[in-house]
Amino acid sequence: MDKAAEKFIFDAFHDPGRDALLHGKFPGDFLWGVATASYQIEGAWDVDGKGPSVWDSFSHSEGKVYQNQTGDVACDSYNKIERDVEMLKELGVKAYRFSISWSRILPTGTVESFNQAGVDYYNRVLSALEVAGIEPMVTLYHWDLPQALQDIGGWENDMMAVYFSDYADKCFREFGAKIKLWITFNEPLVFTTHGYEIGSHAPGLKHSGYGAYRAGHTLIKAHAQAWHLYDDKYRSRQQGKVSIAFNSDWFEPKTDSEKDKVAAQRAATLSLGWFAHPVLVNGDYPELMKEYVANASRLQGLSTSRLPQFSESEKKTIAGTFDFLGLNHYTTSYVSHKATAHPRVASFMLDCDIELTKDDAWPKAASSWLSIVPWGMRRLLGWIKEHYGDVPIYITENGMSQSGMDIKDELRVKYFKAYINVVLKAHLIDGVNVKGYFAWSLMDNFEWAQGYREKFGIYEVNFEHPERLRTPRESAKAFAEIINNGFKPPEEK
Ligand code: GAL
Repeated sequence: MDKAAEKFIFDAFHDPGRDALLHGKFPGDFLWGVATASYQIEGAWDVDGKGPSVWDSFSHSEGKVYQNQTGDVACDSYNKIERDVEMLKELGVKAYRFSISWSRILPTGTVESFNQAGVDYYNRVLSALEVAGIEPMVTLYHWDLPQALQDIGGWENDMMAVYFSDYADKCFREFGAKIKLWITFNEPLVFTTHGYEIGSHAPGLKHSGYGAYRAGHTLIKAHAQAWHLYDDKYRSRQQGKVSIAFNSDWFEPKTDSEKDKVAAQRAATLSLGWFAHPVLVNGDYPELMKEYVANASRLQGLSTSRLPQFSESEKKTIAGTFDFLGLNHYTTSYVSHKATAHPRVASFMLDCDIELTKDDAWPKAASSWLSIVPWGMRRLLGWIKEHYGDVPIYITENGMSQSGMDIKDELRVKYFKAYINVVLKAHLIDGVNVKGYFAWSLMDNFEWAQGYREKFGIYEVNFEHPERLRTPRESAKAFAEIINNGFKPPEEK
């Protein structure tokens, strides 16, 4: 890249105070990694005793996923651990974030159904990582609930907190000696709203206005229970850390009006804060969220809020159940105030009284929701510091999609340079306590309802090929270069 081009990575953004490239380095112990998730890469959906998950059922139902594609084989990582670890070595990452498939360990979800072959598989993964000197960061729940548990209500059933904690106990016991970084849940906001309200993700429920709140309520309790279990029973021996990975866009007010500014704050408070506030602040939902959902519920004729309440003892159990904050971030949205009459139709989005839009000027990835706005990430990190204090943050996902098979993924190279550079600014200039960064994703994989058409990999996967051949894209090389040299001026390299 020549100097001028390097100064502003994206033509769309050329405000020198905001967008100019910062030269500098990350601290030596910064944890560089890449991320994946079980259902998106493993395949082997019914092999060696694995039970079906909600994503197996969902993708096997007609019309749920683009072209009825499934994760039956996916990247076949169940059989390709060696190649995956080789790729991690090629990249020079220090860490790998992957998830455990609950129904591979406990095929029907509860401890009565233990499957040793599932444990053996993850032990093989962990041993291969250990030999390669790569640290695992392990997610316990990246959306693939055992189907047998969905059959009794899934996350809308309080018992899930108990079953999840039993499952977590098994995982801590079986794998904990080799794992120092645990994440209980990936993106509570997405799997509750998409799975229980909009219905576009498994289990496909459209329980609009209450399903996501109930599911979220159970998972917050499940998270807290698992964190305490680790704290009481495993931490002193295993010396690990347990937390949760939230997702959030940056919410930029669409106009300078006071209403839009307030709406943007509300968007962050009711979406990120829905899950972050109980865990990081006081064991309870943000006051603003309680107020908004209660008010909308009242206008709809209900005598109690659709948002469930935590008891005092639950609040005490939930508050402070984190050892770091995991953050998945991809994009920015404009927020405008939009008053709703609160008709009989209820939903989380209507409860918020906001409208989200994008700016046509922002460069776009292949996913409709993903506009490329690097400066938004710095503002989000600042917002988190302002509201939740000096919590250590791992960026647990960040990346972008393409639709074609291009190996020369120039836009993604720019995306990573620009986004990682704002992480550097947040760290060096704003003093945000960022400890690590995981790119999404190591390789193309099953992108949920979009199947294989939205490709997030820094390695291409050829899904037509029986071996699911993996080939590094330009972005894999660019990422390796950033890991090695940060953003040192060229003459210093
Ligand atoms: C996140 C999710 C990942 C991946 C990514 C790209 O919401 O955790 O599994 O799909 O988005 O859309």
